[in-house]
Amino acid sequence: MTEGALSRQTAERLIEAAIAAPSMHNSQPWRFVARLADRVMEIYADPARTLRRGDPHGRGVHIACGSALFNLRLAVAQAGSAPVARLLPSPRNPLLLASVRLGGPYRPQPAERDLFEAIGRRHASHRSATSHPLPRGLLAGLMEAATLEGATLRLLDHTDALRILRRSAAADPGLRSDPGYLAELAAWTGGLRTSHRPHDVQPGPGRAHGNGHPAGRLVMRDFPVRPDGRPSPPAAMETASQLAVISTIADDRASWLRAGQAAQRVLLLAAHRGLQAAPLTPVLDEQEATLRTDAFLDGEYPAMILRLGYGRPARATPRRPVGQVLRVIPLAGVHQSPRPGQDKSPGDGPPPALPPADRQLMPSK
Ligand SMILES: Cc1cc2nc3c(=O)[nH]c(=O)nc-3n(C[C@H](O)[C@H](O)[C@H](O)COP(=O)(O)O)c2cc1C
Repeated sequence: MTEGALSRQTAERLIEAAIAAPSMHNSQPWRFVARLADRVMEIYADPARTLRRGDPHGRGVHIACGSALFNLRLAVAQAGSAPVARLLPSPRNPLLLASVRLGGPYRPQPAERDLFEAIGRRHASHRSATSHPLPRGLLAGLMEAATLEGATLRLLDHTDALRILRRSAAADPGLRSDPGYLAELAAWTGGLRTSHRPHDVQPGPGRAHGNGHPAGRLVMRDFPVRPDGRPSPPAAMETASQLAVISTIADDRASWLRAGQAAQRVLLLAAHRGLQAAPLTPVLDEQEATLRTDAFLDGEYPAMILRLGYGRPARATPRRPVGQVLRVIPLAGVHQSPRPGQDKSPGDGPPPALPPADRQLMPSK
């Protein structure tokens, strides 16, 4: 790609890759702006798609947008430009989480091509893993992947896994009995139909896993909520998966974005190497406080627990169309026709000023 202005088609292609990222309950809490003349793509948190009860401080939003950022960086490299990423580039706009400028000509490394190709094949797997052990070289590669993104991937042996899951489970019983949380969960995962259900929600996983069972088995993470509003009963899960924790040295918004990028690099490498993997659970606020005291984490802040293993490939979950999440700021004086089937793009014009209420959703930590 030459260093001229960005085309709308290229911007759309880049966003196709970005939105394949995982998100909590498939909430897809992002919006993008393409500034064609500046060759800059921006990632915003979408306050309409945040989980007020399940993710009150936006940790999960930042992790999801960090994962989308990692995909975007790969797609920019694949398109032949050096990705120049900035986290939280505007202190005055807390919803602007990251930007990526398409820099000079760039030839992607074979490893980057592999990761890019894995974007469409990576799906969160909620199926049982086989007991086939994961090769040590692969595990070392996954740990290195997290380090490259400024985070740490800690592999849990059986004893650590039981202890971490037990501590993590013990930390969130309040949430499980909170009707607001359960209603929100149902709205996003397709169980209970409520008036709070976002109109364009894409069903999240029908089966999902989460916190630990004291007996050491994994249990369903209250998905799907039953029609009567009560969480599903715990279901037995194999313990063959390799569990791992992604952690960062700080617990602020930039660190959560780094954790998201690290998680996505790990998940894409896992997909490339034939592993099935899934975020098992985001670390919720109460859990973070409990888990932090665990010596295993060496004083770092846990961001997410991952589950890795061999098994049957998972199916894709739907995404909102690119036209719904991308605003294009066209070149001054150049008229770009809408694509067939697309009305006037929501990006045709300056981005809206964000109302103060939106800003409060993303407090600095
Ligand atoms: C921050 C975050 C938290 C998540 N938490 C869970 C979880 O607790 N349990 C689970 O089964 N999946 C969890 N997921 C995975 C999502 O359900 C999954 O990414 C989403 O449904 C989209 O599907 P896909 O990843 O296959 O594209 C989480 C993903 C993210 C990014």
